[in-house]
Amino acid sequence: MCGIVGYVGRAEAAPILLDGLRRLEYRGYDSAGVAIVTRGHLETRKCAGRIVALASLMTKQPLSGSFGVSHTRWATHGKVTDENAHPHFDASGKLALVHNGVIENYQALKEQLIQGGDTNFRSETDTEVLAHLIGKLYDESCASTVDAPQKKARLLTAVRTALQQVIGTYGIALVHAEVPDFMIGARRGSPLVLGVGKEENFLASDVSAIVAYTRDAVYLNDFDVVALERDKFEISSLAGEIGDYRVSKVEFTAEDIKKGDFRHYMLKEIFEQPNTVRDAMRGRLSLEECTAKLGGLNMTPAQLRDVGRIVLTGCGTALHAGRVGEYLIERLANIPTEVEYASEFRHRNTPITPETLVFAISQSGETADTLGALRESRRKGFRTLGICNNVASTIARESDGGVYMHAGPEIGVAATKSFTSQLVILTLLGLLFGRMRNLSTSEGSRIIEALEALPGQIEEVLNLSDQIKAIARTYADVNGVLFFGRQFNFPIALEGALKMKEITYLFAEGHPSAELKHGVIALVRPDLPSVFIVPDDAVFSKNLNNMEQVKARKGPIIALTSGNGAKQLKNVANEIISVPEAPDCVMPILTVIPLQLLAYHLAVELGRDVDKPRNLAKSVTVE
Ligand code: AGP
Ligand code: GLU
Repeated sequence: MCGIVGYVGRAEAAPILLDGLRRLEYRGYDSAGVAIVTRGHLETRKCAGRIVALASLMTKQPLSGSFGVSHTRWATHGKVTDENAHPHFDASGKLALVHNGVIENYQALKEQLIQGGDTNFRSETDTEVLAHLIGKLYDESCASTVDAPQKKARLLTAVRTALQQVIGTYGIALVHAEVPDFMIGARRGSPLVLGVGKEENFLASDVSAIVAYTRDAVYLNDFDVVALERDKFEISSLAGEIGDYRVSKVEFTAEDIKKGDFRHYMLKEIFEQPNTVRDAMRGRLSLEECTAKLGGLNMTPAQLRDVGRIVLTGCGTALHAGRVGEYLIERLANIPTEVEYASEFRHRNTPITPETLVFAISQSGETADTLGALRESRRKGFRTLGICNNVASTIARESDGGVYMHAGPEIGVAATKSFTSQLVILTLLGLLFGRMRNLSTSEGSRIIEALEALPGQIEEVLNLSDQIKAIARTYADVNGVLFFGRQFNFPIALEGALKMKEITYLFAEGHPSAELKHGVIALVRPDLPSVFIVPDDAVFSKNLNNMEQVKARKGPIIALTSGNGAKQLKNVANEIISVPEAPDCVMPILTVIPLQLLAYHLAVELGRDVDKPRNLAKSVTVE
């Protein structure tokens, strides 16, 4: 949530900061701002709205200078206004700070500052309180004349002292007009990465902001404080101890995060799925032993065999992948599996048996709720593994092992390719655990064949895009959409509804098909279509009964089927979308794609901002 970019170097900071913000805009887009130190003065431009509004403000009122900080906000405290846009300043107006996270005790800190005579607050944000606190501590420590190196040390001490008083989460970057060519960053709970350049250094919430300038990155850990100058940086702890660090090479390039010929990132990412699904299984299938090889789990065969229960946790789309995983692992490996909302898991006393293995599923690897669940599970001593896309993310680094998705950067706020990669990985887990238990060689090899066939089959599904676009046009004036599915496809109904809500803003709900008659059927009416996910499988005829119930009440039906299903649905469905045949456990990877496309085309038809839907942000790093 929110994007931070900071620069200290020899080039003009403004274009670098703006360019970085544009790449981070998917993280939050309520307001944006830049502060740059120009000849000993701090100057700022900030406004509510998108980066494009900030860019136009900066065209009219340019800023010059070679060090500064910038921010794109996803508001947590305080309305979306110009005043609440970051950067925020201390009482003297000489310190500018940008922040990602939540200062939970900001009210108490603010009262203390006000009692001390500081009444110069200009915003409603929690962030501004931190800026004032650091500024006050710094000003007090510089009461007598101090030289330039002392100013750096005192600013650093003020940051450490202030952060020790903070309850909550933060990723911050700050500059001070009196301390030239110097920037400080710190993190606790919100991501921050340092980009190492030649005579220039960067700070960012995510490497995509700076990959065009450097691919050498240092991923900061919680409680790290970093002091950056043009040609050096130093990482220390909150207590002031100098820490170790590792410079990593960023895996992707600036090219990988371009939209190419696609109108939206979401569409590009939907169309990448033949490759991303292939990459999720690359090198992980053993044809000889008819199983999966997942070395990243860091577990011996004996430990894998001893797993008696699995808990899958995550949020949103990642949670839906977990729900498919529950069906998959129980079917293939017969291991009792549960799915828990990450936000609930950490606050309730879920009974966990000693032989339980916990998986935290997260595309970004930075979701605060999922990270909280991971930490809680590890604190209790359970082996906790990550299924992440972002290789250097906090969840990936803090877990006991895991499996990477290798899906490449996902920029569209609505998750698409990461979901199908998660499903492939969960299938691999089901296969691996199954083959250590009762799954036969022939069943194992049938699943491998099905997985290997997927990239080609996904190409066929993508060819349905025009048909789905036509359906979206037909239903563009509906008042909402219901989604139904059974077994492996029940979570796909949930995911179809989530995609629809997120990007079209239409009311949408997903349910197990049979639940229809227990209440949902009251909603059925001519302007509320029902999407039924009904592959030609063991529960096809049961699904058909439910569709008849909807049809009898004049509810339009869009059916998503496979194989011979289309023939049998002719008289009941208004629209039929047909995907290739596949075993039921991999079918969700094929059935979800038409639903991604349906939400996409309907959103475009309705003129929505597909890649940056209202109120949302890609990576939710606050609770
Ligand atoms: C998906 O379309 C959503 N944007 C959202 O539900 C997302 O899946 C959720 O916030 C979890 O994100 P993560 O996978 O990065 O942890
Ligand atoms: N809590 C801060 C605010 O509401 C930061 C939010 C963010 O992470 O963007 O301004």
